[in-house]
Amino acid sequence: MKKVNKLFSMKDELIVVAGGAGQIGFSLSQVLVMAGAQVAIADIDVEMAKNKIDLLDKEMQRSISLYNLNVAMEAETKQVLKEIRTKQGKITGLVNAFHYKGNTRKLDTNSDFFASFEDYPLEAWDAVNDINLRGTFLMCKEIVPFLKENNGGVIANISSTYGNVSPNKSIYGSSGINSPVAYAASKAGIINLTRYLATHLAEYGIRANVLSPGGVLNNQSKEFVNNYNNLTPLGRMAEPDEYQGAILFLMSNASSYMTGANLIVDGGWTAW
Ligand SMILES: NC(=O)c1ccc[n+]([C@@H]2O[C@H](COP(=O)([O-])OP(=O)(O)OC[C@H]3O[C@@H](n4cnc5c(N)ncnc54)[C@H](O)[C@@H]3O)[C@@H](O)[C@H]2O)c1
Repeated sequence: MKKVNKLFSMKDELIVVAGGAGQIGFSLSQVLVMAGAQVAIADIDVEMAKNKIDLLDKEMQRSISLYNLNVAMEAETKQVLKEIRTKQGKITGLVNAFHYKGNTRKLDTNSDFFASFEDYPLEAWDAVNDINLRGTFLMCKEIVPFLKENNGGVIANISSTYGNVSPNKSIYGSSGINSPVAYAASKAGIINLTRYLATHLAEYGIRANVLSPGGVLNNQSKEFVNNYNNLTPLGRMAEPDEYQGAILFLMSNASSYMTGANLIVDGGWTAW
């Protein structure tokens, strides 16, 4: 195998992608499979995952398995990881690609989740952190015994530009939405949680890094997209597949000397 192929090869790897049914998570899952990995998607929305997997060619389908999981529930995370290990063999890596989508604690999505800071309800704060921060903590905690079993492994946690800098509220215009405080705080928490993991787990051969993506084009209003583009040095939002290179780098030997890092892929949003 050419050295460059070897660097990025995911052959013999079994990667759990939590939130793998989503727009970015499914794209990340596909590139890991293209590089030779088996991917176990663990997501609360198995229906969405099934529909996406059905559209793949048979060879890709054979490399993706699907598990129903709510990452905020401790017993479920333990049980699902155990099931993956029993059915599929040694787990070698974890990607956490989920975020709060209104599936715990019943909130009124517009008035609660998108409320401004002054009115932000505690219930919304807790609901977002249940998934984004607690879910990431739980997944990382519960995967560690399985990675230790192999004397090593790789974790990639997905943060956001908004975990690195504050959202610019001017881009939301008259849309009635914004980027809420709970999202920004939870995404920032993920970055330092990952640094903690990196230093704590290095002695076991386990690496942990963050991928901080910028905004993906996804049917947003024209006004929002224009505003976003104007604030982005590359002048546009991302396509979902534009994070595939970054995750392959983080999960493969290409990043063997990298841990505790935060890979920002955002078209330059945070550069000025
Ligand atoms: N899309 C963007 O513009 C963007 C920008 C920056 C960062 N991000 C981050 O990238 C990651 C993926 O975003 P996306 O746009 O693909 O999101 P998405 O909404 O398309 O997908 C999120 C996935 O997480 C799953 N999920 C939600 N709650 C869950 C739970 N409790 N247990 C298990 N699975 C659960 C959903 O079912 C869904 O499949 C997120 O962490 C997000 O914060 C996204």
